[in-house]
Amino acid sequence: MADLKIDIDKLKGFVSEASVNSQEQQLVAHQESLLNKTGKGSDFLGWVTLPEEIDEALIGSIMQAAREISAKVDIFVVVGIGGSYLGARAVIEALQHNFAPVLSKQERKAPLVLYAGNNISEDYLADLLEVLDRHEYAITVISKSGTTTEPAIAFRILRRHIEQKYGKEEAKRRIIAITDKSKGALKNLADAEGYRTYVVPDDVGGRYSVLTPVGLLPIAVAGYDIRSFVEGAREMKRLVTTAKTISENPAFKYAAARNALYAAGKPVEIMVNYQPSLIYITEWWKQLYGESEGKQNRGIFPAGVSFTTDLHSMGQYIQEGLRVIFETVLQIEKPRRELTIPAENDDADGLNFVAGKRLYEVNRQAELGTLLAHVDGEVPNIVIKLPHISENTLGQLLYFYEFACALSGYLLDVNPFDQPGVEAYKKNMFALLGKPGFEEQTRELRKRL
Ligand code: PA5
Repeated sequence: MADLKIDIDKLKGFVSEASVNSQEQQLVAHQESLLNKTGKGSDFLGWVTLPEEIDEALIGSIMQAAREISAKVDIFVVVGIGGSYLGARAVIEALQHNFAPVLSKQERKAPLVLYAGNNISEDYLADLLEVLDRHEYAITVISKSGTTTEPAIAFRILRRHIEQKYGKEEAKRRIIAITDKSKGALKNLADAEGYRTYVVPDDVGGRYSVLTPVGLLPIAVAGYDIRSFVEGAREMKRLVTTAKTISENPAFKYAAARNALYAAGKPVEIMVNYQPSLIYITEWWKQLYGESEGKQNRGIFPAGVSFTTDLHSMGQYIQEGLRVIFETVLQIEKPRRELTIPAENDDADGLNFVAGKRLYEVNRQAELGTLLAHVDGEVPNIVIKLPHISENTLGQLLYFYEFACALSGYLLDVNPFDQPGVEAYKKNMFALLGKPGFEEQTRELRKRL
């Protein structure tokens, strides 16, 4: 049974109940379009049924690959950008020790997962190579298209490094490619070199791919239970694909609430967490919603903050800046660790009033106090509640966000499964780098610089 709950009580005074509830029939129609594949972007709806379609053979193969990698490496490098790394990173960072990089492999009980190909920073990659000089490592290179520049450049450099370090034959055993089943430069390279390969299904777009090997392999290598993760997604799928009312269906409620807020002049949504380990959940969510909704001059702008840290930076703007914001708080009921504030005889810092309290109780009061202050400052708040962070609840959460995102895109009347706007920077970058075929744009752009 799904544990995720959603509370829209703190929208009162900003949007009417009618403006939320009146969307119910539309949402039922969009739910049906997603299930019957009759809406916009229907070629990319493979993610809807992934939780049930992931079979034991695939899970078993990924777990076997993860065991083999774990046995021989300290570091596993995930090369990918956007949907080809954010889902894995979101889950791994939410589950792992906050200081995993400084623990030993024995303490972590798994290799450390590091990331490359999500930027073109020379310093970043050179620093990574220096670390890889000193450690046993393996790589997964993930690109659905197989042609994305950032991971392709990183992989070219990493491939040279791993081949020089281990020799070509052993390097091949340390590289796993995750890409299209038949096309793209990465697929061709993987076939030519004989890399072990997993497939990104044709009908699953990058940002909806966390339940394919794209997410599952790195999560398994990091030592987490991918069966439980998939089971959580399955539980959420059962709920959001069958419940027909806003009160029963959390994806309906979230989509309807944020759409009503958007119509009421709140085009900026800030995802709020109270734990640094959830920052990459927000990064994944930002990509999912930003790329799915931001088109045709429409869409809610997705932003993120980590409180209470950012209450000392962004808090001022949220409280008193332009009133175009609403917040969605990801509330986690119970932490995984225990830490109590000690009493001091002299009470020199004046903190004995919290002595004996668990840190999470203080964090919760900060959360509730902030929620009320922001609502008073005309920032409506939606609250998404999870009992704790585990593989299962993360599976629920990510599937919930995906389904609600697709519904939100349909409410906005955009195709939530394409990203035509991402091409503009790529064309300019290729032209400025002098890629053959871009000569005219190269001249035009250089004149403008
Ligand atoms: O959601 C998407 O489709 C994108 O963000 C992609 O994941 C990203 O651009 C990486 O693409 P690819 O996997 O083809 O390298």
